[in-house]
Amino acid sequence: MSITILGIESSCDDTSASVIRDGVMLSNVIASQAVHEAYGGVVPELASRAHQQNIIPVVAEAIKRAGINKSALSAIAFTRGPGLMGSLLVGTSFAKGFSASLEIPMIEVNHLQAHVLAHFIKQEPGECRQPSFPFLCLLVSGGNSQIIRVNSYKDMEVIGQTIDDAAGEAFDKCAKVMGLGYPGGPIVNRLANEGNPDAFTFSKPAIPGYDYSFSGLKTSFLYTLRDKLKEDPDFIEKNKADLCTSLQKTVVDILMNKLRKAAKETGIKEVAVAGGVSANSGLRDAFLDHASRFGWTVHIPPFAFTTDNAAMVAITGYYKYMDQDFCPMDAAPFSRIVI
Ligand code: KG4
Repeated sequence: MSITILGIESSCDDTSASVIRDGVMLSNVIASQAVHEAYGGVVPELASRAHQQNIIPVVAEAIKRAGINKSALSAIAFTRGPGLMGSLLVGTSFAKGFSASLEIPMIEVNHLQAHVLAHFIKQEPGECRQPSFPFLCLLVSGGNSQIIRVNSYKDMEVIGQTIDDAAGEAFDKCAKVMGLGYPGGPIVNRLANEGNPDAFTFSKPAIPGYDYSFSGLKTSFLYTLRDKLKEDPDFIEKNKADLCTSLQKTVVDILMNKLRKAAKETGIKEVAVAGGVSANSGLRDAFLDHASRFGWTVHIPPFAFTTDNAAMVAITGYYKYMDQDFCPMDAAPFSRIVI
């Protein structure tokens, strides 16, 4: 019998619902919240209000596009955390109400695990581009920068992580001081196609193991701007492309240096990337370059699965359903969880 999972994602500023049947995606609907652009960052209170407005139409659309009736659903998977508490509460409460009314189980999903398992979403039946276990996954988003050793669908070990800022945060904050829009990562990426990667040198961390740090880079970027602006008030405008290209090169170098060390020392050559920053073209190119230089088999997600989406929640729910790993009705969201 088919297993049909409805996934719900509401951890930050995207309301998303997806239907996956037997591992194959039937629909994936995402409502992004433009309301935050004016504030240069996500405003938690506005995010939860927008989720309230979006959740029912988004779920209805996902079920419609999947071409199924809600009675065909086997279970409802929802993001329990980590994320913004007010945002998580909307998805969690909706999942509870819907599963109670349909009398089907509920499955809690860790948002970070879901980013990793996005690599297992099939867009067509029979598709087989999935990583094989064990593999390393570089998870890079606005809130996380981690190297995860993935032993199975449910056994994941964080072997390195940022001790301060995340890679996406570094992109966003540096973009902000240059007066670029929000979120800054994609804007920096666009401008980085036009500049010289060696025009500026920013500091790189020297910390042991597989951990990351991006706060030093952020400070060194800020100090460069401060010093140069004293000499020329139009410095940013005249050097925007070079600044973005040099920044992107530094972030990618920092990420790849530790990942290379982890791959070498663990002997694992199956390497994946996930999370919002995995949309970055410099990072994608670096993965392809490492594949040919070091014999890695690399897994780079389709753009639709890089940023927050419910298909990754539904696929995680699918594997948990196989284990009959359901959660009780009193499950409350967590703003912080580790894998
Ligand atoms: O995974 P995600 O959608 O949300 C969470 O943080 O959970 O990641 C968002 C982050 C933001 O920091 C955004 O600037 C960054 O991903 N991002 C990028 C690119 N696209 C999104 N950073 C660099 N280059 C990109 N093309």
